[in-house]
Amino acid sequence: MEFSLALLLALATVPFQPGGGQSLHVDPPEPEVAVARGTSLQVTCSLSCDEDIARVQWRGLDTDLGNVQTLPGSSILSIHGMLTDTGTRTCVGSCGTRTLQHRTMILVYAFPDQLVVSPETLAPGQDREVEVSCTAHNISGPDRLSFALLLGNQTLEGVRAQEPELEEETQEAEGLPLFRMTQRWLLPSLETPPPPALYCQVTMQLFNLTLTHKMELPASVITLWIGSLVLGLLALAFLAYRLWKRYPPSPHPDTSSCTLL
Ligand SMILES: *[C@@H]1O[C@H](CO)[C@@H](O)[C@H](O)[C@H]1NC(C)=O
Ligand SMILES: *[C@@H]1O[C@H](CO)[C@@H](O)[C@H](O)[C@H]1NC(C)=O
Ligand SMILES: *[C@@H]1O[C@H](CO)[C@@H](O)[C@H](O)[C@H]1NC(C)=O
Repeated sequence: MEFSLALLLALATVPFQPGGGQSLHVDPPEPEVAVARGTSLQVTCSLSCDEDIARVQWRGLDTDLGNVQTLPGSSILSIHGMLTDTGTRTCVGSCGTRTLQHRTMILVYAFPDQLVVSPETLAPGQDREVEVSCTAHNISGPDRLSFALLLGNQTLEGVRAQEPELEEETQEAEGLPLFRMTQRWLLPSLETPPPPALYCQVTMQLFNLTLTHKMELPASVITLWIGSLVLGLLALAFLAYRLWKRYPPSPHPDTSSCTLL
């Protein structure tokens, strides 16, 4: 009688833990954990059992038992930040006849700050567009990547984005391919004034974690843009100078117009 009362009380105070108050305690508790490549992580799972010593063990199809340290009542899973560590692990704990489970999806990602931007073709001073490109190197999970062209801290409008290109890098990581992804944009040429700061921003979305890298477009794009304006003005000035040398202004406008004719 006392026992069932205690059980009821336990159920009332901890309503989300089925089976009488005990639950697996997992740290970190999130069902999805993103780990940067090369970073170690330990996931601890424990269960306390009133009557007995709980048996707790991490499992997973690809779980190397060398990475699991099992102690009475708890189990520690060690991740060494290899891309091959990606996968779902299940912690199974039992207390008497009751069995509890907790799943943790581990995602090891590669997203180094290795952006390469390039102005590939520049057609300043013409009615052509300027193509700029941005490549994110040595990444994993290209489907989680997105690109944006920023002017200051705002997405630049009026640029034409092309379909992103995906290629495999020559270097692999732990037998898995790494990728490089390139986004190209077509900027309207000198129609608009040269932007103060143009950035390529690459975002990787990992569950609720958002990572970004930013790279400024080389100043040469901008200086060439401005440069073409300056060159144009210089050319005009030179032409004016040549004309002035050839037909120097005369104090008598009437005679000068005669000379010209
Ligand atoms: C990509 O990774 C390889 C191997 O670590 C390295 O040699 C190469 O420089 C990296 N690429 C870039 C653009 O940093
Ligand atoms: C970013 O944009 C906001 C407006 O959207 C502006 O208030 C802020 O000053 C900007 N920050 C920088 C660093 O440009
Ligand atoms: C992601 O969600 C978990 C809960 O599921 C929360 O604890 C964590 O702080 C979140 N992380 C970010 C970066 O929002």
